[in-house]
Amino acid sequence: MHVCSFASVILCSRIPGLTPTQRQLCAESPDALVALGAGHILGSQECQFQFKGHRWNCTQVWRKDIFGHVVIVGSREAAFTYAISSAGAVHAITASCARGNISLCGCDSMQKLAYQEQNQAWKWGGCSADISFGMKFARKFLDAREIEGDARSLMNLHNNRAGRKIVKNLLRTDCKCHGVSGSCAMKTCWKSLPPFRAVGDVLMKKYNRARYVQPINDKNGLSLIIRKKSRSVVKPKKPQRPKRMEIVYLQPSPNYCEKDHSLGSLGTDGRYCNRTVNGVNGCDLLCCGRGYNTHQLNRTWQCRCKFQWCCNVQCDTCSSRIEEYTCK
Ligand SMILES: *[C@@H]1O[C@H](CO)[C@@H](O)[C@H](O)[C@H]1NC(C)=O
Ligand SMILES: *[C@@H]1O[C@H](CO)[C@@H](O)[C@H](O)[C@H]1NC(C)=O
Ligand SMILES: *[C@@H]1O[C@H](CO)[C@@H](O)[C@H](O)[C@H]1NC(C)=O
Ligand SMILES: *[C@@H]1O[C@H](CO)[C@@H](O)[C@H](O)[C@H]1NC(C)=O
Repeated sequence: MHVCSFASVILCSRIPGLTPTQRQLCAESPDALVALGAGHILGSQECQFQFKGHRWNCTQVWRKDIFGHVVIVGSREAAFTYAISSAGAVHAITASCARGNISLCGCDSMQKLAYQEQNQAWKWGGCSADISFGMKFARKFLDAREIEGDARSLMNLHNNRAGRKIVKNLLRTDCKCHGVSGSCAMKTCWKSLPPFRAVGDVLMKKYNRARYVQPINDKNGLSLIIRKKSRSVVKPKKPQRPKRMEIVYLQPSPNYCEKDHSLGSLGTDGRYCNRTVNGVNGCDLLCCGRGYNTHQLNRTWQCRCKFQWCCNVQCDTCSSRIEEYTCK
């Protein structure tokens, strides 16, 4: 049982949009909340990296009220947003624990005890990432907003959990050798966090294979099952449930071509596109067939630099015309 300091109660009361449960967690561990803020930035930057050049590019969903709901329909983009926020939270809290920045956690000492005896020449040591604290805190904190008990809440909870599990699944074992002249007579190993890019890459694959689900109400209450393909003839007997590490969505995505705030779509007019590629950032796809404007620019840079004795460098100025394209 920890006592909440008066200062942390004040701090937590100043953060807008916290639910009572979140406020309580914040007061118990304000340093974990600092890490959550860092996790939020981690998630948002990775989301923008993964969706760079796409019509939906993950910019508008990260609002100031950082611990609140994301304001878009239950699309796969919303699914990705929840999963990566949750993964960012787990990652940042766990990293912060290992650095000793959170008073309630540190390195995972269970790992050392569990494996030390199996093999004398190989033992756990150093600082193993204490993923369980990060998972638990992120779950308690982020899941606390999903109180509606409706299908959308279930979707968010599922995607939050998928994000947490993906980080855990990507934990790596790193080892260091000790022994005379670099021999590996003795090894120390520890669990470490993956770079967050690896988490983003896996989540992007999950996004591409996201499951379209629907709610059902049975004796166990409301839950989500995988929606049957509309043309499918064979009817599976049992409803199929999504796997834990799959991400799920309830509504098909809008095409994100036109601005529509109720759908979370900013539209693509004015976006830079690439005329020569066929990919997502190509003008055809990004501009939704509306065409593009061509901008002529004169780019100058230093060139033909020569070193002169002694001691300066002389350069010419080169220039060329370049073209840029923006969607109409
Ligand atoms: C973690 O602690 C270090 C010093 O130990 C400090 O410089 C850093 O700002 C802290 N980071 C967070 C996120 O609290
Ligand atoms: C993302 O999309 C928005 C709206 O379409 C646009 O304003 C912004 O510049 C885009 N960001 C990047 C990095 O392309
Ligand atoms: C457009 O795509 C091509 C091929 O990937 C690339 O070489 C070029 O630099 C891109 N142009 C811009 C303006 O990004
Ligand atoms: C670009 O601008 C520079 C000076 O700003 C000028 O000397 C040059 O001729 C221009 N190049 C083109 C291709 O317009």
